Amino acid sequence: MEKFVIKGGKALHGEVTVSGAKNAAVAILPATILAAGKCVIENLPAISDVMVSLQILSELGANVTMLDKNTYEIDTTYITSTQVPNELSRQMRASYYFLGALLGRFGTAKVAMPGGCNLGPRPIDQHLKAFTAMGAEDTVEYGMIKVSGQELHGAHIFFDVVSVGATMNAMLAACATPGMTILENVAKEPHVVDLANCLNMMGAEIRGAGTDVIKIRGVNYLHGCDYSIIPDQIEAGSYMVAAAATRGDVLVRNVIPKHLEPISAKLQAAGVLVEEFDDSVRVSATGELRPLKIKTMPHPGFPTDMQPLMTVLLSTATGTSIINEGIWENRFRYVDELLKMGANIQVDGQVAVVEGVKSLHAAPLRASDLRAGAALVVAALSANGVSEIDETGHIERGYENIVEKFQALGADIHRAEKPMADLVRAN
Ligand code: EPZ
Repeated sequence: MEKFVIKGGKALHGEVTVSGAKNAAVAILPATILAAGKCVIENLPAISDVMVSLQILSELGANVTMLDKNTYEIDTTYITSTQVPNELSRQMRASYYFLGALLGRFGTAKVAMPGGCNLGPRPIDQHLKAFTAMGAEDTVEYGMIKVSGQELHGAHIFFDVVSVGATMNAMLAACATPGMTILENVAKEPHVVDLANCLNMMGAEIRGAGTDVIKIRGVNYLHGCDYSIIPDQIEAGSYMVAAAATRGDVLVRNVIPKHLEPISAKLQAAGVLVEEFDDSVRVSATGELRPLKIKTMPHPGFPTDMQPLMTVLLSTATGTSIINEGIWENRFRYVDELLKMGANIQVDGQVAVVEGVKSLHAAPLRASDLRAGAALVVAALSANGVSEIDETGHIERGYENIVEKFQALGADIHRAEKPMADLVRAN
């Protein structure tokens, strides 16, 4: 078990290169199940959620070959199983994408209730609504979800809530299902568009990804493809906030600036300088920052996954910020950790009121989930003194080489083994 040890108070300077998008990768890897032939997927982030997805493919019977650390060749021709092993599906939320992909190819799939970050209730009723509209039946027994239907057909589905997972899962199931499927009130996140682009490269006929309505004409056959995953919007946003919070000056490379607009706009409103180039953004800040009002919303609104990071930044802005979490019921659990660092934040349900303080101070911290963990890293980098962050496995699920990337920006951060005595006390 590892922890991060961070000596804060140093402004970050230099360049950082963003990795491939986690939330695209974890859907594109299951999508390879639909292809007859080899897929070469490039720009995969080397993170544990991707490793688990590759392991699931391999356990199902796919041939998975590493070409380099971010590129894998996957041949799913001889998949023999349609049941995702329990211990693997429980390790990450995105294991639900195997339902749509296996259903689309074999007409049946069985996956344990997915794990992932604890952000409050995370139902999958909208995923199941789409599958049943296409003619599948679903059963949930002993924590396992089974979907099956040998006569799947296109369907017209109006989602009750805008869901990234349900939109992408319905696309996976529909692209090899006979007939036209129309999805309305869909998610428009960059990773939704990336999955559609990848499936279209395999021969799918998907139109409208990135708008409110997606139309999918089912095809008989999908073939292998070479596909490179888009850069990770939230990883990029995390380094942008880190630059601002430490009052540094950082060039964030390998980004699609358009995807970052909701983040850049809020940073600029707070008084941070953001300069956009073709595939990079430069972020710098000095002196006092202004408070903000933020409400998280589906894309192109302000992303919920950036909410903990922005709270850290606003903890030292001059004045009162209001942060309204519009997607998840319970995404302020990390605030207790910021209070230990001297932040002044009151949470009432899904609203946090942040009274800016002059500075944060170091504390022993615990990462409760992926983005909360990244936010604590940024808080510790900007605070005076030495902080230690436990349970960093959550962070490594979604950030490739986070320690090394911050070190390259001049941060004083390293991994350390948690001593056995601490582990015994924690249990
Ligand atoms: C994806 O989760 C991301 N995860 C999350 O990122 C992200 O926070 C979220 O989208 C919102 O952008 C992955 O892509 C693997 P949703 P997902 O379905 O798809 C409700 C991270 O840090 N809902 O868009 O599971 C749900 O309760 C992670 O990288 C239903 O009611 O989220 C929530 O309130 C954390 N029924 C809202 O919709 C459903 O069937 C949005 O959830 C599905 C969702």
